[in-house]
Amino acid sequence: MTSAAVFLPDSLLVCTLGRMTETGFGIDIGGSGIKGARVDLSTGEFIGDRIKISTPKPATPDAVAEVVTEILAEAQWDGPVGITVPAVVRGQVALTAANIDKAWIGTDVHELFHRHLGDREITVLNDADAAGIAEATFGHPDARKRSVILLTFGTGIGSAFLMDGELFPNTELGHLIVDDMEAEHRASGAVKDNKDLSWKEWAAEVSRVLNEYERLFYPSLFIVGGGISRKHKKWVPLLDVKTEVVPAELRNRAGIVGAAMAVAKHLAP
Ligand code: BGC
Repeated sequence: MTSAAVFLPDSLLVCTLGRMTETGFGIDIGGSGIKGARVDLSTGEFIGDRIKISTPKPATPDAVAEVVTEILAEAQWDGPVGITVPAVVRGQVALTAANIDKAWIGTDVHELFHRHLGDREITVLNDADAAGIAEATFGHPDARKRSVILLTFGTGIGSAFLMDGELFPNTELGHLIVDDMEAEHRASGAVKDNKDLSWKEWAAEVSRVLNEYERLFYPSLFIVGGGISRKHKKWVPLLDVKTEVVPAELRNRAGIVGAAMAVAKHLAP
């Protein structure tokens, strides 16, 4: 018997031989690439291929929104879309731009993306917050218990605060001053590459940062994500901090999955 699939655009329910799956779409805007995929919201898995297009230079809001339009056209997706940006987003307005074009500061992202993507539900949120939401639902079982700080190590350091799986958004721990230097200038993934640090040297910097976060927040668990968490075996065992540290499980899928979840759950910060 062949499997029958019925697509109901209004409810976005895909029904295949009795199994009901809610499908969403997430887009993760990063410094080098803009990535998007359909997401099975019951498993956190991608449906089909992830689409990736290089981030335009300069990455102004309109240039980035054009690329997002292209990704959705390629994916033939006209439903709700969740979008992450590496910035503080409050009331659907971007308020900061540490590692992106300064033109994002003060941009009404609701207006921007509706102008480019038309009349559909759109939620924009911080990239690390999206990763936190995804990890709390589909990642490490302890991510949804008690007070958890998830950190993403990439161009900058992103942070998500979770309390029993609920997000406190826009925490921006990457900008906390640790020993006279912003944490992300000391210990981001980019710092390791730019300064050509060994795993041991870089882990020592990450430890300094984690010790400061521990001293201020005493979380029950740190979860470390971002691209460099793929190589967690090389550096997580070298960390010197009392709080338990575990690698993120969704790795670079987390931003897209969290974005898709945010719009489906109407979690606009
Ligand atoms: C930004 C954060 C972002 C993080 C990771 C930081 O520089 O301020 O908003 O979450 O980088 O991309």
